Amino acid sequence: MTTDTEVALPLAGSFYITTPIYYVNDRPHIGHAYTTIIADVLRRYRVLFGQPTYFLTGTDEHGQKVAEAARARGLEPQAHVDGMVENFIHAWKELEIDYDIFMRTTFPFHREVVAIALQQLYDKGEIYRRDYEGWYSVSEEIFYPDKDIVDGKSPAGKAVTRITETNYFFRMSSYQERLISYIEANPGFIFPESRRNEVLGFLRQPLADLCISRPKARVSWGIPLPFDLEFVTYVWFDALLNYTSAVGYLQDTRAADFSRLWQGVVHLIGKDILITHAVYWPTMLMALGVPLPERIVAHGWWLTAPGAKMSKSEGRVVSPLDMKDVVGVDPLRYFLVRAMRLGHDAMFSEAEVITRVNADLANNLGNLFSRVVGLLVKYFDGLVPAAEASAPESKILSDLTEETVASAIKHVVEFAPDLGIEAVMTLLNRTNQYVSDRAPWKMAKEDLKHAAETLRCALEVVRISGILLSPVMPTKMAELAERLTGSRSVAKSSDLAWGQLVTGASVGIGPVLFPKIEIEQETE
Ligand code: MSP
Repeated sequence: MTTDTEVALPLAGSFYITTPIYYVNDRPHIGHAYTTIIADVLRRYRVLFGQPTYFLTGTDEHGQKVAEAARARGLEPQAHVDGMVENFIHAWKELEIDYDIFMRTTFPFHREVVAIALQQLYDKGEIYRRDYEGWYSVSEEIFYPDKDIVDGKSPAGKAVTRITETNYFFRMSSYQERLISYIEANPGFIFPESRRNEVLGFLRQPLADLCISRPKARVSWGIPLPFDLEFVTYVWFDALLNYTSAVGYLQDTRAADFSRLWQGVVHLIGKDILITHAVYWPTMLMALGVPLPERIVAHGWWLTAPGAKMSKSEGRVVSPLDMKDVVGVDPLRYFLVRAMRLGHDAMFSEAEVITRVNADLANNLGNLFSRVVGLLVKYFDGLVPAAEASAPESKILSDLTEETVASAIKHVVEFAPDLGIEAVMTLLNRTNQYVSDRAPWKMAKEDLKHAAETLRCALEVVRISGILLSPVMPTKMAELAERLTGSRSVAKSSDLAWGQLVTGASVGIGPVLFPKIEIEQETE
C-alpha cells in the first residue's frame, strides 16, 4: 500500500546536523539543552531510517566576553575555557547526547582553517581595511551602525559602547542580491517560513559590509588575521566556520569527507541567531565558493513567563540537570521534543513537564504496557501467544499502526517531530481503548483465542511505538525492547512493520516503566 504520507527509505545522501556552538562562558540551560536534544533526536531518527549521519555540537571560545571572564577569574583564557567546556561535555553526557564531534574553536586545526579562509578572501579582494565608527555590544559580540541604536541600546536591548577604530571588512554587501535570489529560488533553505520572511525583510534594507576584525590592542583572545597580525578575527566569523572545519574543509587529507557531508548539512539554531546564520554565513560561503547549507532550521524560545525568554542575563534559567533529577532524562527529552512546535515559542515550567510526562508516558504508554503484560502473565504464562489480527477492530488497529509509522516518518523528515510523537500517542490511546473494549479478562475463560488476539495486537502496537519513540527516549525504549524481544539493540526501519513479535517469546516483567511523578505542592 502506498499512501501520500509515505517517505522513501532509506533517505538519499547523508544527514549532517549541527547545533550552534555555545558560548563557553554559559552554563547549559534548558534552551541550550533543547537545541542539542532536538539535534540528537533528529539524527537518531535518520539512523533509524537508514541514512548515514553526522552530528556536531561544541563551544564558541574566543572573543571579548570570554577574555573578560577569564580575567575576572585571574586565569589565562585557554585555562578558563578548558575548565568551562566541561560544563557542556558533562551536561550532554547526562542528557544522552550522542554527538560525533564536540567542536571547540580553540582547536588548532580550526584556527588554521580560519586563517586559510581569511587569506583566500583577502587575496581575492573580498576583505579590505577602513576606519570604522559605530556601536559595539559585547554581550552579543555584534557591531551596530548609528541607525540601529534604539534608546542608546542595541535592537535586542543590550548595552553598547561607542567605538572608533581601523578594521578589516568583508564585502558582504556585494552578495545581497545573490542571496535574495537564492532564498527566493530555494523555499526550503530557511525553515520555518516565518523566519524566511524575516530574513527577506532584513535583506530589503541596504546590507552593510561585515567588520571581521578586532584590534589586538583591544581584544587579544582570538585567531590572528594572517595578513595583519595586529588584529584578531571577529568571533562570529571564526565561529561560523566551525561547521565546515569540523568536517574537513580546507584540509587536504579530508576533502572527500567534506564533499560527502557538506551537501546534506542542516543548521539547527534558535531564532536569536537567525541573521548571523542566514545572512553572514551564506555570504561568507558564497565568497569562498562553497555551496550553501541544505537548510537552516530556526526554533523558537522557551519562555519562563509569557514573553519572557529563558536567559542567563535576565536571571531566568532552568538547569536541565536539575530538571532531569526530578523527572528522569528520557521523560525530560520527551517533554522538550513534544511540547514545542519547531519554530514557535513554548512555555517551560516544572509543572508542565510533570503533567505532560504523567499523561503521555505513565498513563498512556506505561499503563498500556503494564496492563497487557499483566494479562499475558495471568492467561499465557507471560509468553507471546500465536494470533492473527482477524477481528475487524484488530484489523483497524494494525492499519492505524501502519499509518502512524508513515506519518511519524513524514513529520520527522519535515522537522515536526512533535507531530510524529503526537501520532504515536494517539495510536497508544486508541490501543488502550481497544483493550478496554475487547475486555480480554472477561473472555479469557471461554475464548482464549479472543484474548490472545487482543493481547498480541496490543503488544505489537507497544513494540512498534517503542521503536518510533526510541530516538527521543533511547534508554527507556531500549529497556522496553529488551522486555518485549530480549534485545536492546538499535532498531532498523524494517522492524517497524506489523507482525514481528515472536510467538512463544517470554515478556519480561519488570519495574514500572514510567512511575507517576507527584507535583510538589508549594509550601508557604
Ligand atoms: N556562540 C553563539 C553561536 C555561534 S554558532 C556558529 C551563540 N551561543 S549561545 O550560547 O548564546 O547559544 C544560543 C543558542 O542557545 C540559541 O540559538 C538556541 O539554540 C539556544 N537557546 C538559548 N536560549 C534559548 C531559549 N530560551 N529557548 C530556546 N533556545 C535558546 O549564540
